[in-house]
Amino acid sequence: MKAIAYNQFGTSEVLHIVEQSKPSVKNDQVLIKVKTFSINSMDWKIRKGEMKLMSGSKFPKHTGADFAGIVEEVGSGVNHLKKGDEVFGVVKNLMKEGASAEYVAVSASLVWKKPAAISFAQAASIPVVGTAALSALEKMGNITPQSSILVNGATGGFGMFLLQLLQQKNANISAVASTKGLAFAKKWGANKVIDYSKENVFSKQTKYDVVIDLSGKMSYKNGKKLLKNRGSFLNVTPQPIQIIASLFNNLFTSKKHIVVLSNPSTKQTEKLIKAVNEGLQIEVNKVFPFNQFKEAYKYAEKGGVIGKVVVEINE
Ligand SMILES: NC(=O)c1ccc[n+]([C@@H]2O[C@H](COP(=O)([O-])OP(=O)(O)OC[C@H]3O[C@@H](n4cnc5c(N)ncnc54)[C@H](OP(=O)(O)O)[C@@H]3O)[C@@H](O)[C@H]2O)c1
Repeated sequence: MKAIAYNQFGTSEVLHIVEQSKPSVKNDQVLIKVKTFSINSMDWKIRKGEMKLMSGSKFPKHTGADFAGIVEEVGSGVNHLKKGDEVFGVVKNLMKEGASAEYVAVSASLVWKKPAAISFAQAASIPVVGTAALSALEKMGNITPQSSILVNGATGGFGMFLLQLLQQKNANISAVASTKGLAFAKKWGANKVIDYSKENVFSKQTKYDVVIDLSGKMSYKNGKKLLKNRGSFLNVTPQPIQIIASLFNNLFTSKKHIVVLSNPSTKQTEKLIKAVNEGLQIEVNKVFPFNQFKEAYKYAEKGGVIGKVVVEINE
């Protein structure tokens, strides 16, 4: 079978197709014929060597976390899935068993039935950013209609889920996005939109209960200037040192620095499936055919993508 791999850190040019044998299935696993996988920013952050502490420097590495496809084979200990089921899921270690392959063997605990109303491209867009958005929501604590929340960088995959989950809580949402993202941010639940190419969020006098940065461009040091007393800044891209620093910081200041690290689980995914069945929208910006995988990564990496970028592997 074909899979995408790389042997050195670098741009999307280091990616290439490798031929390898179809993975065999352990008792607790299912073999999936992958139809679609989605691209997440951690794919290229790892590939560019920006997360070496976590990724290490061993090669070859694979890539891709989220997938959707058809169950091809079921391990002897799995009874909630069967051959032919339409499913979506996430691999445990994307560098070893990347989802950008024709087949993946995955623990059945990380595979869920695809809601009938959504496409394989939409389903492959859910796990990483959907569960990250739910984790962020949980870290925000008790959100009420009185809660004012600033989502900085609101129209990528993470923001798309977060805005809609916050809207379910009737929170008062301000969303920072590029000009072309503004209409989407409104559609997904923002009460107020701020175009970062025209306005500087720091030049306003508004203070928020929660500020979450999804752009990777706002530090806690800056973000806390936008917080009310006892407000929280959520950091979704923490450096290891920031994780430790945030613990100390929170002992001594009323403006909390909270780290969000998601780990997709069945409990969270079931909440997302329920939200999807109740109308949560999943915007797939573009679907690339497998033979254009490098273009897909380039497109996703250059920014300006509303929602998710997906690659179709087995039609
Ligand atoms: N902690 C976790 O478990 C976890 C899980 C998943 C993702 N993440 C991280 O969460 C972040 C968001 O993920 P994503 O998939 O949604 O990424 P994304 O698609 O790259 O979204 C980033 C957003 O930030 C916007 N942006 C760019 N420059 C900005 C600026 N100067 N001011 C305000 N907004 C700006 C972008 O808008 P334009 O593109 O239109 O310019 C885009 O909407 C990423 O850094 C990702 O690594 C963390």
